[in-house]
Amino acid sequence: MNLKQLVGIEAASYITDGMIVGLGTGSTAYYFIEELGRRVRDEHLQITGVPTSFASKQQAIDCQIPVATIDEVPYVDVVVDGADEVSAEFHGIKGGGAALLFEKIVASNSKQVIWIVDESKLVEHLGNFPLPIEVIPYGEEQLFSYFESQEYHPTFRLDQDGEKLVTDCKHHIIDLHLEEIRAPHALADELDHLVGVVEHGLFLDMAHTIIVGAADGVKTIH
Ligand code: 5RP
Repeated sequence: MNLKQLVGIEAASYITDGMIVGLGTGSTAYYFIEELGRRVRDEHLQITGVPTSFASKQQAIDCQIPVATIDEVPYVDVVVDGADEVSAEFHGIKGGGAALLFEKIVASNSKQVIWIVDESKLVEHLGNFPLPIEVIPYGEEQLFSYFESQEYHPTFRLDQDGEKLVTDCKHHIIDLHLEEIRAPHALADELDHLVGVVEHGLFLDMAHTIIVGAADGVKTIH
Protein backbone atom coordinates (compact mmCIF):
# COMPACT_ATOMS: atom_id res chain seq x y z
CA MET A 1 0.00 0.00 0.00
CA ASN A 2 1.45 3.42 -0.89
CA LEU A 3 1.53 6.37 1.56
CA LYS A 4 -1.33 8.22 -0.16
CA GLN A 5 -3.54 5.17 0.13
CA LEU A 6 -2.54 4.70 3.77
CA VAL A 7 -3.57 8.24 4.80
CA GLY A 8 -6.72 8.13 2.66
CA ILE A 9 -7.90 4.99 4.44
CA GLU A 10 -6.94 6.41 7.85
CA ALA A 11 -8.94 9.61 7.19
CA ALA A 12 -12.00 7.60 6.17
CA SER A 13 -12.03 6.03 9.66
CA TYR A 14 -12.90 9.49 11.06
CA ILE A 15 -16.23 9.50 9.22
CA THR A 16 -19.37 8.37 11.03
CA ASP A 17 -23.06 7.98 10.18
CA GLY A 18 -24.96 11.14 9.37
CA MET A 19 -21.93 13.27 8.56
CA ILE A 20 -21.80 15.77 5.72
CA VAL A 21 -18.32 15.20 4.31
CA GLY A 22 -16.26 17.47 2.08
CA LEU A 23 -14.54 15.41 -0.60
CA GLY A 24 -11.14 16.81 -1.55
CA THR A 25 -9.44 16.65 -4.92
CA GLY A 26 -6.19 15.08 -6.09
CA SER A 27 -4.32 11.80 -6.03
CA THR A 28 -4.39 11.50 -2.21
CA ALA A 29 -8.04 12.51 -1.75
CA TYR A 30 -8.76 9.90 -4.43
CA TYR A 31 -7.94 7.12 -1.96
CA PHE A 32 -10.08 8.74 0.75
CA ILE A 33 -13.08 8.80 -1.59
CA GLU A 34 -12.46 5.21 -2.67
CA GLU A 35 -12.39 4.01 0.95
CA LEU A 36 -15.44 6.08 1.83
CA GLY A 37 -17.26 4.50 -1.09
CA ARG A 38 -16.26 1.07 0.14
CA ARG A 39 -17.67 1.87 3.57
CA VAL A 40 -20.92 3.20 2.03
CA ARG A 41 -21.36 0.00 0.06
CA ASP A 42 -20.05 -2.59 2.56
CA GLU A 43 -20.94 -1.02 5.92
CA HIS A 44 -23.99 0.96 4.78
CA LEU A 45 -22.38 4.15 6.11
CA GLN A 46 -24.91 6.96 5.71
CA ILE A 47 -23.23 10.17 4.59
CA THR A 48 -23.59 13.05 2.19
CA GLY A 49 -20.49 13.96 0.19
CA VAL A 50 -19.77 17.53 -0.92
CA PRO A 51 -17.25 17.30 -3.78
CA THR A 52 -14.63 20.01 -4.37
CA SER A 53 -14.30 19.41 -8.13
CA PHE A 54 -16.10 17.84 -11.06
CA ALA A 55 -13.55 15.00 -10.94
CA SER A 56 -14.27 14.23 -7.26
CA LYS A 57 -18.00 14.46 -7.91
CA GLN A 58 -17.75 11.88 -10.69
CA GLN A 59 -15.60 9.59 -8.54
CA ALA A 60 -18.08 9.86 -5.64
CA ILE A 61 -21.01 9.02 -7.91
CA ASP A 62 -19.08 6.05 -9.32
CA CYS A 63 -18.43 4.93 -5.71
CA GLN A 64 -22.15 5.26 -4.83
CA ILE A 65 -21.57 8.10 -2.34
CA PRO A 66 -24.65 10.39 -2.28
CA VAL A 67 -23.52 13.91 -3.25
CA ALA A 68 -24.77 17.44 -2.68
CA THR A 69 -23.38 20.85 -3.56
CA ILE A 70 -22.15 23.24 -0.88
CA ASP A 71 -25.35 25.26 -1.43
CA GLU A 72 -27.58 22.27 -0.67
CA VAL A 73 -26.21 21.60 2.83
CA PRO A 74 -26.32 23.80 5.97
CA TYR A 75 -22.62 23.19 6.73
CA VAL A 76 -19.95 20.52 6.30
CA ASP A 77 -18.96 18.41 9.32
CA VAL A 78 -15.52 17.56 8.04
CA VAL A 79 -13.59 18.01 4.80
CA VAL A 80 -10.73 15.69 3.95
CA ASP A 81 -8.37 17.01 1.29
CA GLY A 82 -4.78 16.78 0.11
CA ALA A 83 -2.25 19.62 0.10
CA ASP A 84 0.80 20.56 -1.93
CA GLU A 85 2.81 21.91 1.00
CA VAL A 86 2.15 22.09 4.74
CA SER A 87 4.32 24.35 6.90
CA ALA A 88 5.36 23.90 10.50
CA GLU A 89 2.70 26.49 11.38
CA PHE A 90 -0.04 24.35 9.77
CA HIS A 91 -0.43 26.69 6.80
CA GLY A 92 -0.81 25.14 3.38
CA ILE A 93 -0.45 25.68 -0.34
CA LYS A 94 -3.23 24.02 -2.30
CA GLY A 95 -4.36 24.12 -5.90
CA GLY A 96 -1.83 21.87 -7.60
CA GLY A 97 -4.88 20.14 -9.06
CA ALA A 98 -6.50 23.49 -9.99
CA ALA A 99 -9.44 22.93 -7.62
CA LEU A 100 -8.47 25.57 -5.04
CA LEU A 101 -11.62 27.68 -5.38
CA PHE A 102 -14.15 24.97 -4.51
CA GLU A 103 -11.67 23.51 -2.01
CA LYS A 104 -11.40 26.80 -0.13
CA ILE A 105 -15.16 27.40 -0.20
CA VAL A 106 -15.84 23.92 1.20
CA ALA A 107 -13.05 24.22 3.80
CA SER A 108 -14.34 27.64 4.90
CA ASN A 109 -17.75 26.11 5.58
CA SER A 110 -16.43 23.01 7.38
CA LYS A 111 -16.40 22.47 11.12
CA GLN A 112 -13.27 20.37 10.79
CA VAL A 113 -10.54 20.44 8.15
CA ILE A 114 -8.29 17.40 7.75
CA TRP A 115 -5.39 17.31 5.31
CA ILE A 116 -3.90 14.03 4.19
CA VAL A 117 -0.34 14.13 2.90
CA ASP A 118 2.76 12.06 2.57
CA GLU A 119 5.76 13.32 4.51
CA SER A 120 7.36 14.88 1.40
CA LYS A 121 4.72 17.66 1.64
CA LEU A 122 5.91 18.86 5.07
CA VAL A 123 8.10 21.97 4.85
CA GLU A 124 9.53 24.58 7.19
CA HIS A 125 8.33 27.53 5.07
CA LEU A 126 5.83 27.54 2.21
CA GLY A 127 6.81 28.62 -1.28
CA ASN A 128 8.93 26.01 -2.97
CA PHE A 129 5.73 24.72 -4.57
CA PRO A 130 4.39 27.31 -7.05
CA LEU A 131 1.52 29.28 -5.52
CA PRO A 132 -1.62 29.01 -7.69
CA ILE A 133 -3.69 32.14 -8.29
CA GLU A 134 -7.10 31.62 -9.91
CA VAL A 135 -7.93 34.61 -12.10
CA ILE A 136 -10.78 35.81 -14.29
CA PRO A 137 -9.55 35.82 -17.91
CA TYR A 138 -10.64 39.43 -18.44
CA GLY A 139 -7.69 41.55 -17.31
CA GLU A 140 -5.43 38.60 -16.55
CA GLU A 141 -2.51 40.01 -18.58
CA GLN A 142 -2.60 43.10 -16.35
CA LEU A 143 -2.40 40.89 -13.28
CA PHE A 144 0.41 38.90 -14.90
CA SER A 145 2.38 42.13 -15.49
CA TYR A 146 1.76 43.19 -11.90
CA PHE A 147 3.11 39.87 -10.62
CA GLU A 148 6.17 40.29 -12.85
CA SER A 149 6.75 43.78 -11.47
CA GLN A 150 6.65 42.34 -7.95
CA GLU A 151 9.20 39.68 -9.00
CA TYR A 152 6.75 36.89 -8.20
CA HIS A 153 7.87 35.04 -11.37
CA PRO A 154 4.41 34.21 -12.75
CA THR A 155 3.58 31.56 -15.33
CA PHE A 156 0.21 30.68 -16.78
CA ARG A 157 -0.67 27.07 -16.10
CA LEU A 158 -1.15 25.19 -19.36
CA ASP A 159 -3.15 22.08 -20.22
CA GLN A 160 -1.82 19.08 -22.16
CA ASP A 161 -2.49 20.89 -25.45
CA GLY A 162 -0.37 23.88 -24.41
CA GLU A 163 -3.44 26.10 -23.97
CA LYS A 164 -4.17 28.06 -20.80
CA LEU A 165 -5.71 25.60 -18.37
CA VAL A 166 -9.40 26.27 -17.70
CA THR A 167 -10.68 25.52 -14.19
CA ASP A 168 -14.07 24.00 -13.30
CA CYS A 169 -15.35 27.60 -12.97
CA LYS A 170 -13.91 28.67 -16.34
CA HIS A 171 -11.07 30.68 -14.87
CA HIS A 172 -7.32 30.52 -15.52
CA ILE A 173 -4.45 29.80 -13.13
CA ILE A 174 -1.30 31.88 -12.76
CA ASP A 175 1.40 30.08 -10.74
CA LEU A 176 3.79 32.26 -8.73
CA HIS A 177 7.30 30.88 -8.36
CA LEU A 178 8.29 32.43 -5.06
CA GLU A 179 10.73 29.87 -3.63
CA GLU A 180 10.03 30.98 -0.07
CA ILE A 181 7.06 32.76 1.49
CA ARG A 182 8.31 34.40 4.68
CA ALA A 183 5.13 36.40 5.45
CA PRO A 184 2.16 34.32 4.25
CA HIS A 185 -0.52 36.49 5.87
CA ALA A 186 0.82 39.66 4.24
CA LEU A 187 0.95 37.96 0.85
CA ALA A 188 -2.58 36.54 1.29
CA ASP A 189 -3.81 40.02 2.18
CA GLU A 190 -2.20 41.50 -0.94
CA LEU A 191 -3.70 38.80 -3.18
CA ASP A 192 -7.12 39.15 -1.53
CA HIS A 193 -7.18 42.79 -2.60
CA LEU A 194 -6.26 42.36 -6.27
CA VAL A 195 -9.25 42.85 -8.57
CA GLY A 196 -9.56 39.89 -10.94
CA VAL A 197 -8.03 37.41 -8.51
CA VAL A 198 -10.83 34.98 -7.68
CA GLU A 199 -8.87 33.01 -5.10
CA HIS A 200 -5.34 31.97 -4.23
CA GLY A 201 -3.79 28.78 -2.95
CA LEU A 202 -2.66 30.05 0.45
CA PHE A 203 -4.78 28.16 3.00
CA LEU A 204 -3.84 29.86 6.27
CA ASP A 205 -5.13 28.94 9.73
CA MET A 206 -7.57 26.46 8.23
CA ALA A 207 -6.38 22.94 8.99
CA HIS A 208 -7.24 21.31 12.31
CA THR A 209 -5.64 17.93 11.71
CA ILE A 210 -2.88 16.70 9.40
CA ILE A 211 -2.61 12.98 8.73
CA VAL A 212 0.91 12.29 7.49
CA GLY A 213 2.03 9.12 5.78
CA ALA A 214 5.66 8.26 6.49
CA ALA A 215 7.85 5.25 5.87
CA ASP A 216 7.39 4.19 9.51
CA GLY A 217 3.61 4.58 9.52
CA VAL A 218 0.83 7.15 9.84
CA LYS A 219 1.20 10.14 12.16
CA THR A 220 -1.66 12.43 13.10
CA ILE A 221 -0.82 16.00 14.09
CA HIS A 222 -3.38 18.32 15.75
C1 5RP B 1 -6.02 20.21 -5.81
C2 5RP B 1 -5.26 20.22 -4.53
C3 5RP B 1 -4.71 18.92 -4.08
O1 5RP B 1 -5.26 18.61 -2.85
C4 5RP B 1 -3.22 19.05 -3.98
O2 5RP B 1 -2.74 19.45 -5.24
C5 5RP B 1 -2.57 17.75 -3.55
O3 5RP B 1 -2.74 16.82 -4.56
P1 5RP B 1 -2.11 15.36 -4.51
O4 5RP B 1 -2.76 14.66 -3.37
O5 5RP B 1 -2.41 14.77 -5.84
O6 5RP B 1 -0.61 15.53 -4.28
O7 5RP B 1 -5.09 21.21 -3.88
O8 5RP B 1 -6.38 21.51 -6.18
